[in-house]
Amino acid sequence: MNEQSMSGAQMNNVLEVNDLRVQITSRRGLVRAVDGVSFEVPRGGALGLVGESGSGKSMTLRAVLGVLPPEAHVVSGQVLLDGTDLLTLNQASLNRVRGPKISMIFQEPMSALNPVMRVGQQIAEGPRIHLGYSRARAEERTLELMRRVGIPDPERRYRAYPHEFSGGMRQRVMIAIALACEPEIILCDEPTTALDVTIQDQILRLLAQLCQESGVSLMFVTHDLPVVAQICQQVAVMYGGQLVERGAVRDVLLDPRHPYTLGLVRSAPDFEYVQDSLRPIPGSPPSLITPPPGCRFHPRCDFAEDDCRTGEVPLRILPGGRATACLHHERCLEALAADRAAR
Ligand SMILES: Nc1ncnc2c1ncn2[C@@H]1O[C@H](COP(=O)(O)OP(=O)(O)OP(=O)(O)O)[C@@H](O)[C@H]1O
Ligand SMILES: [Mg+2]
Repeated sequence: MNEQSMSGAQMNNVLEVNDLRVQITSRRGLVRAVDGVSFEVPRGGALGLVGESGSGKSMTLRAVLGVLPPEAHVVSGQVLLDGTDLLTLNQASLNRVRGPKISMIFQEPMSALNPVMRVGQQIAEGPRIHLGYSRARAEERTLELMRRVGIPDPERRYRAYPHEFSGGMRQRVMIAIALACEPEIILCDEPTTALDVTIQDQILRLLAQLCQESGVSLMFVTHDLPVVAQICQQVAVMYGGQLVERGAVRDVLLDPRHPYTLGLVRSAPDFEYVQDSLRPIPGSPPSLITPPPGCRFHPRCDFAEDDCRTGEVPLRILPGGRATACLHHERCLEALAADRAAR
């Protein structure tokens, strides 16, 4: 689709996901891993996707990139990248988009790198295939990328194999691969959780800086709220396969309007939310095979009323453009005021 036929919203957003549903066939039944999720990633901006383990974050990212495991299937939805629905593309067209338009950085770089191929060649592959670079030009581009992501002595390291690199250096290689064809958006699935804390911070800063410099958008999955606050402008909160809250980071994380988000910020260490002690969210995540009716969070929610236990509870837009699925979100305001008063 050319720019003239894109709507205003599509011009502003590099990625628009509408009502995405992913189901997984398992021996215990059909898992509704992603159940009607919609969000946008602003052009040049960063969207964080947060939520407990098992809430569907990775399945959402994988569905966007079209790399779901064989047992998982997209059953409905749209994934609009610059107005083109990736879900309607065949494999050959998808392969032309992955790399030059959209790329991904995974949690464990070792599993994404080819262990028997030299690191430099793996970085050079994208420009060779997608940009039609000659061998010499791709090597030049690779050396430049290796310098940009802070890999020392790139001429020598070009010929090394992944196992000769530390975890942090491997993740720099992944960033170089992701950036190699100058995509519009990079999807990151907990790209630093496998690294130790000081390296995590270096990698995050690097990623944020490179994206800012080159205008690349980011979608960033993490458990780590301070990381979201550091590098994202927008955040979406996922619970039980659905989004429960969405909006600007400063609104959602400092002034949550969903009791699940409130629970997340109250239980996050090192987060600037007003609190003296960590309060874990009681209870356990819902089954995605037989989710509870009504709001999926209601069995764990202090604010739940009868109307939370039946019917659909879709996201609704609040003044200022943020959105919440909570029917009683004003109760969060009261709880926040009580937290602040108790400090
Ligand atoms: N192969 C599978 N068979 C059955 N269920 C699966 C399979 N893979 C994932 N799931 C389920 O799908 C749901 C979503 O998984 P997903 O990996 O997207 O979660 P996540 O939010 O990324 O969690 P984490 O934070 O632990 O990475 C989970 O409840 C998980 O149990
Ligand atoms: Mg995951």
